[in-house]
Amino acid sequence: MNILKLADFEVKEIEEILENAAAFKSGKKKINYNGEKIIANLFFEPSTRTHYSFETAELKLGCKTMNFEAETSSMKKGETLYDTVKTFESLGVNAVVIRHKEDEYYKQLANIKIPILNGGDGTKDHPSQSLLDLYTIKEEFGHFEGLKVLIVGDIKHSRVAHSNIKVMERLGMKVYTSGPEEYKDDDLEFVNFDEYLPKVDVVMLLRIQLERHEKDTIVNKEEYNSKYGLNKNNINKMKGNAIIMHPAPFNRNVEITDEIVECDKSRIFKQIENGVFVRMAMIEKSLENI
Ligand code: CP
Repeated sequence: MNILKLADFEVKEIEEILENAAAFKSGKKKINYNGEKIIANLFFEPSTRTHYSFETAELKLGCKTMNFEAETSSMKKGETLYDTVKTFESLGVNAVVIRHKEDEYYKQLANIKIPILNGGDGTKDHPSQSLLDLYTIKEEFGHFEGLKVLIVGDIKHSRVAHSNIKVMERLGMKVYTSGPEEYKDDDLEFVNFDEYLPKVDVVMLLRIQLERHEKDTIVNKEEYNSKYGLNKNNINKMKGNAIIMHPAPFNRNVEITDEIVECDKSRIFKQIENGVFVRMAMIEKSLENI
């Protein structure tokens, strides 16, 4: 089974993945494929968390892993994405994890028969990040219904924002967005950051995704942080039990200052920890019935 975007999954299927992730984390659930499943990780964009979190998950499940290097592959001779993935299928690989800069790159892979796990496509979707974000929120609050989430920053270029807004609303959360006007999607309203900071349960900060901007953007770090970031002056305005999330990598002293990165409210490294168990559950689901 492919896992390309969470819109393809019913709420009960999403909840099932999160429950399985919790069982992997607590040790109640163990799976060992004993090296009989091979998973290839094809990352066409830089990644630390998603790539190595998937690889850690694969190793914990007893899979064999392959890490594709586009720079030394036959793509340098002009081979297409489809022919590259078809080659891995022909080699006998059981599933592929793919990150690619093109929105919905997977549409050109419709004839591939092995499961594809989307490690992020352009500005569209990042299902494994959304699932680990949901897992971290559920772990913290025990439920989704009625929670208020403020997503702040470069919404326009963020697949994390686009992926999360849709699924969070389906799960009963109220999602607000804020940031500089130039990072707003046409179909979204931006709220005032200072006004909503004290009202929400989750503040999710986003990195300014300079690599996806059409023209060079000059960011004044101090100005950005004082208007749209967290720092020691405004963190005390958050609700007592509210948490800070960030998909990372984060820009220190832009969206979050050094002293806040690992403060009591921050779940940034907890998100990374949880990502491994969520991806184990995703791999299990994708390999079902094969
Ligand atoms: N959050 C995330 O996708 O990080 P990487 O780009 O390092 O994978």
